[in-house]
Amino acid sequence: MYLHNSLPTYGTPLDPRDAETLGRAGADDVARILTLRDNSDPTPLVALPGLAKALNLGAVHLKDEGYRLGLGSFKALGGAYALMRLVHSEAAHQLGRTIPVDDLLSDEVRMIARGMTFACATDGNHGRSVAQGAQLMGAKAVIFVHAGVSQSRIDAIAGFGAEIMRVAGNYDDSVAEASAVAAQRGWTVLSDTSWPGYEKIPGLVMQGYTAIVREALADLPQPPTHVFLQAGVGGFAAAIAGHLAVLLDKDRPHVTVVEPTRAACVLASVQQQHPVKVEETEPTVMAMLECYEPSKVAFRVLERVADGFMTVDEDDAPSVMRRLAHPVAGDPAIVAGESGGVGLAGAIAVLKDPDLAAKIGLGSDARLLVINTEGATDPALYTEIIGRTPDAVRNGHK
Ligand SMILES: Cc1ncc(COP(=O)(O)O)c(C=O)c1O
Repeated sequence: MYLHNSLPTYGTPLDPRDAETLGRAGADDVARILTLRDNSDPTPLVALPGLAKALNLGAVHLKDEGYRLGLGSFKALGGAYALMRLVHSEAAHQLGRTIPVDDLLSDEVRMIARGMTFACATDGNHGRSVAQGAQLMGAKAVIFVHAGVSQSRIDAIAGFGAEIMRVAGNYDDSVAEASAVAAQRGWTVLSDTSWPGYEKIPGLVMQGYTAIVREALADLPQPPTHVFLQAGVGGFAAAIAGHLAVLLDKDRPHVTVVEPTRAACVLASVQQQHPVKVEETEPTVMAMLECYEPSKVAFRVLERVADGFMTVDEDDAPSVMRRLAHPVAGDPAIVAGESGGVGLAGAIAVLKDPDLAAKIGLGSDARLLVINTEGATDPALYTEIIGRTPDAVRNGHK
């Protein structure tokens, strides 16, 4: 299903709070703080001319977040960045002076971080980012995982020294539990989703994602005309679409938000014209997108700057993973996790409907940008779906 944006707010300027969160100054902060971390090189922007030809598009570029900061997903940019910013503010407050960003990893600041505990819920990737950021700063992290989070994802989080709390139920239940326990114990909730009265921290998480846009625009020969962005709570899509709108203004690309049919909370919210919770049915293979209620801040951005909202089916995710793993001649193989290729899956689904593709201008003049938001963050599952290990795919072995 594809829903064109016809909300009353569509095309209006970003709310001033979001224009600040997703503006140039915030992106400068992100770039500066990023350099303090290991493996902070920009992720590869890969041209896929073979795929572009097969899809009859002008160009296809894929930004491969599987290489992000050694963590395997774009989420590495958000949680850890927000945590570093929160420690920075607390240190300035406790020391009563401005702390240069370059001193963020000093003993003095890390001593203050040691007294701070950050809690969050996760489908897997956000918790990994928060845990890594906490380890880097010397803070404590307590990560709430629901029943659907795989053991290998939990192990990866625990590997950064975080405490794991298991929660019965789904992602939304783990968000509620993390908030309740954090409130009792005086911990800071570092959520990637926002709700009424809780916007600042998820805003920082989203701000962290703007690095993807800056890097992509620096590497692309020309700005994209079309972007397809996968959504869980919508924070990623909103950050990318919002920052593109800030930087490119009237020349911004056409933006489509893509969700699994089984967890299409952003699309349902657009239909209802305000953020709503959708009913849980069956789990989706696109595990990182399995969210039933959108982030309030993300919705506020997307209702203004997203042009369309669509769903993809369960088969579309493994199918796009295979297509990226077995590229047409000349294109490099890409390792995309179950949620990583979903933006591209959305574009491919649109192209199966020529009237719709024509309506949104997705044709031979289009320059498509998609973001592989995760590599094989669950390697065993990846190997099961593709029939080869991530390394074998990367190295071109059969
Ligand atoms: C790999 C991957 N892609 C996309 C998303 C969606 O991000 P958001 O929940 O901000 O919409 C997530 C969220 O965890 C993710 O891990």
